[in-house]
Amino acid sequence: MALVNTKEMFKKAYEGGYSIGAFNINNMEIIQGIVNGAKKKNSAVILQCSQGALKYAGPKYLKAMVDAAVEETGLDIALHLDHGSDMEYIKLAVESGFTSVMFDGSHFDYEENVKKTKEVVDYAHAHGVTVEAELGVLAGVEDEVSSDHHVYTDPDQAVDFVNRTGVDSLAIAIGTSHGAFKFTGDAQLRFDILEAIQTKLPGFPIVLHGASAVDQETIAVCNKYGGNIAGAKGIPVDMLRKASSMAVCKINMDTDIRLAMTAAIRKVFGENPKEFDPRKYCGAGRDQIEKLVIEKIEGPLGSADSMSK
Ligand code: G3H
Ligand code: 13P
Ligand code: ZN
Repeated sequence: MALVNTKEMFKKAYEGGYSIGAFNINNMEIIQGIVNGAKKKNSAVILQCSQGALKYAGPKYLKAMVDAAVEETGLDIALHLDHGSDMEYIKLAVESGFTSVMFDGSHFDYEENVKKTKEVVDYAHAHGVTVEAELGVLAGVEDEVSSDHHVYTDPDQAVDFVNRTGVDSLAIAIGTSHGAFKFTGDAQLRFDILEAIQTKLPGFPIVLHGASAVDQETIAVCNKYGGNIAGAKGIPVDMLRKASSMAVCKINMDTDIRLAMTAAIRKVFGENPKEFDPRKYCGAGRDQIEKLVIEKIEGPLGSADSMSK
């Protein structure tokens, strides 16, 4: 068993009307929680590392733990660089054995984004690595870059971008955003844009970033045990399921992993102030992530049993 890239995964997901969950990883418990949940639902999964994660844990540790996860579970797992900002990070990921990379040129002007993405595609494809790019700007914070408003993806520009770059998948902006505070009023996603892109690029895999649902019960647990998270709001689950039944083949979730782990750890400390064994609280975080991933696969992703399809 070895890591896989996203090519076949996305083809099956597109045809089957479901999405593969792409969860951010930063340490062993997060990796184990995710793959244990995916294993219980017999689902392929993407483990993705931001540049911050690479700095925190180091590519060698992350790759070795993900290799162990493949060996333990036998699942189709892709190891993906999330929001790669330049060729230096892309090369670091490819040389470290990642099977998929994102080059995020969404903050450059259009022609610059095309040019830089094409360079990444040429390099990554020569190494058997698939490439995700981004067009349009999500409101919120992406790694160290932030924007206070959405720039929705233009469907005609998406066609031109995909044809000129040869990219394998495209992250689009339809109203999702990173972090725990996505909407102040009602949640709104531009499904008309997604539909137009799907019509103009039939069979082409689309990616949704900023797609955490921000479960209110989890927020309540955080706050009950000493947290102070007010006004958090995510993407409604029915909207995500609608997207995954369309052209969206990859749904990115990091905030929900963070909240699940934080709620579980806070609860352990709140109920057992004398506890100081890291296995007790990190283990509780791991179990909560496993539960979350099972819910995601059964709900918004719809990817249960994708290993048998
Ligand atoms: O897109 C952003 C992800 O949530 C990663 O966040 O850069 O803090 O690891 P991070
Ligand atoms: P969330 O902040 O909604 O979890 O999005 C994560 C993401 O898009 C990582 O690239
Ligand atoms: Zn993202």
